[in-house]
Amino acid sequence: MGIILKRGIGAILTLLMTGFNSCNQTISTSKSGNFIDSLMNQMTIEEKVGQMTQICFSKITLGKNKELSLDTSMFVDAIRKYHVGSFLSGTGSANDWVEFNTLMQQIAVKKTRLGIPLLIGIDHIHGANYIDEGTILPHNILLGCSFDTALVKKAAQITTKETAVLGINWNFAPVLGLARNPYWPRFYETFGEDPFLVSELGAAFINGSQNCNSTLPFELAACAKHFVGYSDPRSGWDRTPAEIPQQKLFEFFIPPFKKAIDSGVKTIMANSGEVNGEPVHTSDWLLNDILRKELGFDGVLLTDIKDIQKVVEMHAGAKNLKEATLLAINAGFDVNMACEGFEFNRIMLELIEEGKITEARINESVRRILHLKHELGLFDNPYPSEKNIQGIGSQEYLDIARQIAEGSIVLLKNDGILPLNERNKKILLAGFATDSKKNLNGAWTHEWMGAEDKRHSKNMNTLAEVAWDFFGKNNVTCMGVYDSSLIYTRRFEQSANESDCIVLTVGEEPYSEFRGNITDLELRECDKKLLYLAIESAKPIVVILIEGRPRLITEFSEKTDALLFAGYPGIRGAEAIMNIITGKKCPSGKLCFSYPKYSGYDVNYYHKTSEQYDVLFPFGHGLSYNDFEYKNFRVNKTIVSTFEESITASVSIKNNGQFNGKETALWFISDCYGRITRPVKLLKHVDIIFLKPGEEKTIEFTFSPEFVLSYPDKNNQSVLEKGDFEISVGHFRQKISFSN
Ligand code: BGC
Repeated sequence: MGIILKRGIGAILTLLMTGFNSCNQTISTSKSGNFIDSLMNQMTIEEKVGQMTQICFSKITLGKNKELSLDTSMFVDAIRKYHVGSFLSGTGSANDWVEFNTLMQQIAVKKTRLGIPLLIGIDHIHGANYIDEGTILPHNILLGCSFDTALVKKAAQITTKETAVLGINWNFAPVLGLARNPYWPRFYETFGEDPFLVSELGAAFINGSQNCNSTLPFELAACAKHFVGYSDPRSGWDRTPAEIPQQKLFEFFIPPFKKAIDSGVKTIMANSGEVNGEPVHTSDWLLNDILRKELGFDGVLLTDIKDIQKVVEMHAGAKNLKEATLLAINAGFDVNMACEGFEFNRIMLELIEEGKITEARINESVRRILHLKHELGLFDNPYPSEKNIQGIGSQEYLDIARQIAEGSIVLLKNDGILPLNERNKKILLAGFATDSKKNLNGAWTHEWMGAEDKRHSKNMNTLAEVAWDFFGKNNVTCMGVYDSSLIYTRRFEQSANESDCIVLTVGEEPYSEFRGNITDLELRECDKKLLYLAIESAKPIVVILIEGRPRLITEFSEKTDALLFAGYPGIRGAEAIMNIITGKKCPSGKLCFSYPKYSGYDVNYYHKTSEQYDVLFPFGHGLSYNDFEYKNFRVNKTIVSTFEESITASVSIKNNGQFNGKETALWFISDCYGRITRPVKLLKHVDIIFLKPGEEKTIEFTFSPEFVLSYPDKNNQSVLEKGDFEISVGHFRQKISFSN
């Protein structure tokens, strides 16, 4: 916290009183439809352009970083000289946030000509990850493995509760890209590779964020990002070109955004990269024709960080910043996350003066921005209050964080060693995530790249701490990452010898965006060495994969006894992992992506018939300690004559195991042939059921051929062809044909 804040808000406001002709009293805060029009009528063009500008906290804080100590003179300059309407990205305690946001809003509301409150944005992409006390949830790639809209909605609600009451009103989440490319360093920010799953979970997240009544009067706008095609760059590296056939864009990449728009998402952020030879930030076709006109998005469209600049500096897509700004604004952006400078404001005024950007175009954006501020209740309730912050990081939320991780972790392989029992009491726990909070929480936690351990909550336990609690300190030997030393090797060999079982954490240290670019999916050398040591010991081995994308474990999979995918499981990740490996909790997660077998052969589950699905673990794979038996599969008709006919398929699932358990049934449709060749199958419906030992339930899926067979062509025209198709669930499949 900076000195300025400590001098008190009152003092700062007094300082600012002089020389100000504040007329904000004349603005009515009534909710009348004319409110925005009347405000806009009073705005100068400079004030309008200011509303379209978003500036980073690093520009207006004393340390020039994300810490919450306001550099009042810089801030006042930003909002009085440049009329900036929104700011982003800080990190600190809940109290500091309330104080900081209150101060900013007080200055904006009381000390500017029109008193327009600010939008304050953040990347709370896995819980309130920039609040010291925040409940850090698993990253989305693990959440996706729950397949569970209710869990994702809960995750969004907790995040919103810990965000909105602090006066942060805009969350740059959820990411709606598809995890199709395991090299892409933002793989872990997505809900997986499947468009249906990403659409459903994305909508649940938006719903939980924007309709969270318990934070009222403080509200949060969600932001679906990054429109569109960001997640599948050809090289795998961040922000490098994607070449995605237009038909594929419409069939796979756009639907999650369509669903988000239909679910009322208030804002959308654009993709930083280029798609099919055009930087998305200047693509009139993608932003105006598709996003606005075809998908009907009328909310606030935001650039990604400094991305108009990147059109010039990274993509060489325009001669200079002025040309890039012209193209981007005319492509439909409302807010420019300019971040550092006010060059944007100067250029915009020039472009308007020259008649290249019309005032009508600016009014469109300003109206959307003011409408968003109005919808969020900011004109009536701009100030957060410390009274509302109890509950942040509470036991209740920590328990939910654990349940979310437990409901998502995937048991990939189990030769019978799990759950650990009496015979496996003495454990050697080793690897990079053994005694680390940072490695369980991942990146975007207190810092962009993930903060050092001391910055993480004191209420969080490491795996080592939880293991000591479970098994007793004398029964668990803990060793960190393999460091190539002889001492480490000797100690490992000896401890392995004295243990009944070895539990290893292998995977990836946290990384963000381009910092996570890799040239190979191979495991790190230190992890491989550790695995070799463990294999040599001939003791049973349980491997916990802590990683943001699938690193290759093909060589080791056969030689280990159990494998779990735990992503970055968050603040209660250690407890969740331990509950699963000790059988306190039955695993129920299923892979929301295909786990590759090779570094050079990468294929998704919805591949074409000419491709082989040769992966280590398929999409939807996930073991349980129970045996869920699928039986009595029925389809009420196998011949249809119209596209509208209703077909009902049903199947019973019985829990033949000994645990209370959750089973996720995935319903796929295979269109056997098509003019545009069809994926071998596509997920169309998910049922989640809870079964006690011995219990059996029947689930049903009712659908029409039209619903499951239509697909877009390259112009987004719907194609619907008669022909054979198959429905499948579990190991059952049934062909359905059209009669002539
Ligand atoms: C990321 C966005 C993020 C923004 C603001 C960018 O680098 O691509 O996803 O919302 O930074 O932090």
